[in-house]
Amino acid sequence: MSPAQDAPVSRETSATTTTEDPPVSPETDAPRNPLQVPTAADHDAAVTYHDETTPLAQAVLHQLLAREGRAMSAPLRRPWQTRVMVVANQKGGVGKTTSTVNLAAGLAQLGQRVLVIDLDPQGNASTALGVEHHRGVASTYDVLVDGVPLADVVHPSPELPGLYVVPSTIDLAGAEIELVSVVARESRLRKAIAAHPGIGSTGEDRFDYVFIDCPPSLGLLTLNALVAGAEMLIPIQAEYYALEGLGQLVETVEMVRAHLNQHLEVTTILITMYDGRTKLAAGVAEEVRDHFGTKVLRTAIPRSVRVSEAPSYGQSVMTYDPGSPGALSYLEAAREIAAAARTSTEMSSE
Ligand SMILES: Nc1ncnc2c1ncn2[C@@H]1O[C@H](COP(=O)(O)OP(=O)(O)OP(=O)(O)O)[C@@H](O)[C@H]1O
Ligand SMILES: [Mg+2]
Repeated sequence: MSPAQDAPVSRETSATTTTEDPPVSPETDAPRNPLQVPTAADHDAAVTYHDETTPLAQAVLHQLLAREGRAMSAPLRRPWQTRVMVVANQKGGVGKTTSTVNLAAGLAQLGQRVLVIDLDPQGNASTALGVEHHRGVASTYDVLVDGVPLADVVHPSPELPGLYVVPSTIDLAGAEIELVSVVARESRLRKAIAAHPGIGSTGEDRFDYVFIDCPPSLGLLTLNALVAGAEMLIPIQAEYYALEGLGQLVETVEMVRAHLNQHLEVTTILITMYDGRTKLAAGVAEEVRDHFGTKVLRTAIPRSVRVSEAPSYGQSVMTYDPGSPGALSYLEAAREIAAAARTSTEMSSE
């Protein structure tokens, strides 16, 4: 086991020690840096917290590193092969793009290599990740309609190292119609992903995650994503009617599984825009958990102004305000997603 994988254990141990041992100052503790990252102390006396084993200290560390655009070398499991996650829900405005962008940024902050494919003609994910997406920029449209290799349209995001984007331009709006007469129109994206040399199980510099941000419809674009991915992440807004329309979505998934992509599975449900002050949100969350069980991430994303402000600065909330509750929740959700990854060691022992 790598030192990084050891870390959660030592974290728990030290947490226990802290609760049992009466007042020992962190400064006099034995040196411990389970995350193997620079401590707050390295960033000089501006921060006096010297122990990153508590949530507060982790938040401080996250904030410091995110400001510098540096990844936390946290104890994350690297998936044995690229996990292609389709973020879809035909309902509009439930937090698909916000979740795509911030989970991707969170995973990049945690040292993973992440690609975001913007499959929505609105191009909101491209905007939030600071990548140009005006007409003429090499984009998802070129891949789907003209068969351009995916690798040729990947742009690095200025947000964070290890984070890349395939932007969408307004041209994509026409693709739904243009694709109708194209051969194998629903598997264009799958082919492009399969042909990308950095997606799969080999190569140290392969992508660990590909997130596909879908438009709010169940048309050909979303269908291409469902055929291309193995995992589906459904963001559900904690509001009245939250589950409405999900039946249709699940039916579509079943249809895709039966005819086009037997590997597709709904693996992750994320509750978004959760307002803990209202009974309604708690009720909706409970209903979603009753329905989807352990697929629902324990972390719900709170409604927060900082989350909605970030895109107007061409940023994710992860770098815009890394210490805010929204950013910390997305980071925690990213950790939960990563914890579900199967590693190559596990795969070879099966
Ligand atoms: N946690 C949050 N707190 C506050 N506002 C949020 C939060 N998450 C999303 N929003 C806001 O809600 C709106 C819809 O979010 P978003 O664009 O991510 O949804 P979407 O499902 O991608 O929408 P569409 O269906 O149009 O693609 C945006 O204005 C976004 O800034
Ligand atoms: Mg969107």
